Amino acid sequence: MTDDALRLLAADAADPVEAAVEGSLRPRSLDEYIGQREVKANLGVLLQAARAREEAADHILLYGPPGLGKTTLATIVARELGVNVRYTSGPAIERPGDLAAVLTSLDERDVLFIDEVHRLNHAVEEILYPAMEDYALDVMIGKGPSARSLRLTLKPFTVVGATTRAGRISAPLRDRFGATYRLDFYSDAELTQIVERSARILDVHIDAGAAIAIARRGRGTPRIVNRLLKRTRDHAEVHGDGRVTETAANEALRLLEIDDEGLDSTDRKLLAAIVQKFGSGPVGVAALGAVLSEEIETIEDVYEPFLLRLGFIDRTPQGRIATDLARQHLAGLGFEIPPPRRGEADMPSLWADVAGAADDPGAALGAGDR
Ligand SMILES: Nc1ncnc2c1ncn2[C@@H]1O[C@H](COP(=O)(O)OP(=O)(O)O)[C@@H](O)[C@H]1O
Ligand SMILES: [Mg+2]
Repeated sequence: MTDDALRLLAADAADPVEAAVEGSLRPRSLDEYIGQREVKANLGVLLQAARAREEAADHILLYGPPGLGKTTLATIVARELGVNVRYTSGPAIERPGDLAAVLTSLDERDVLFIDEVHRLNHAVEEILYPAMEDYALDVMIGKGPSARSLRLTLKPFTVVGATTRAGRISAPLRDRFGATYRLDFYSDAELTQIVERSARILDVHIDAGAAIAIARRGRGTPRIVNRLLKRTRDHAEVHGDGRVTETAANEALRLLEIDDEGLDSTDRKLLAAIVQKFGSGPVGVAALGAVLSEEIETIEDVYEPFLLRLGFIDRTPQGRIATDLARQHLAGLGFEIPPPRRGEADMPSLWADVAGAADDPGAALGAGDR
């Protein structure tokens, strides 16, 4: 598989060209935003109340795996409030002074979007606390014995923070967000709607069956289905008349080595490593990272959430384990599946007739009845 195809399912935004297309596909209002019903309902109330009070909205923390619509929601928040939004990110704000400059440039009730908010450094966080709590900025004037602290008042504003995992944020920072929303993977039906909406915007003719085929392989992630849509369109243009039919979509997806569960080769490598090299686990994420030459953070944030959701892996205090479902999936793809190293008692179905039946009194009874 090429690097290009590997990136396809990586769910994080890739290059500037893609970012531009993404911008054009972004829903612009809560109504246009598909799925995440509960988040939308609660956020809608929060925004409506802030508008009615004519005050800055509470600070909002959004968390969830990449590509699920956090940046999009931040943009929508600002739009629904009728204010400007400034985009920045944890790693981009290097020094307290950088943050102070951004904060003092905000207009009343503006939204400050801080992506990867868990990556703010400590000194910057210290500036952010009073800013979020009291709209106050404490600045040091001078150096040495004559140095003193001066408190400046900021215009009321709203921080929208985004992170892939809420647990990464320091407790004091987390406490300063009035509302926290978790974005979840999208259903196939929601992703189908997203594919159809994006196809309309990009002026792509697509069959209902093709939209479903793409949605099913989209790992529950809008960014990925949009990317798959573009790749299948390319395929349809090169090999046909540009219409994305179900056949064309399936062919394109097959060439991209995405299997029926939406797994790409990296996912399969990860599962195969747990199954083949570590006897189906438990194995620590650091060991997996070493075997796959992947960053631990990438494994945890990009690959694992979806594999967990599929029930292909489990997290245990001892490490990751590959489940029976994962072994069956790999076996179906022709992978060699050694028996799991851990006790067979916790491996119900695949080895059920061998181990399970002996342990299961119900099964023994059933056998006696025959
Ligand atoms: N609920 C949604 N409905 C329609 N499109 C969405 C939705 N959420 C995300 N998208 C699309 O997916 C892409 C990635 O969303 P983004 O907000 O950048 O994700 P994140 O910031 O969580 O990584 C955007 O181009 C956007 O158009
Ligand atoms: Mg984003």
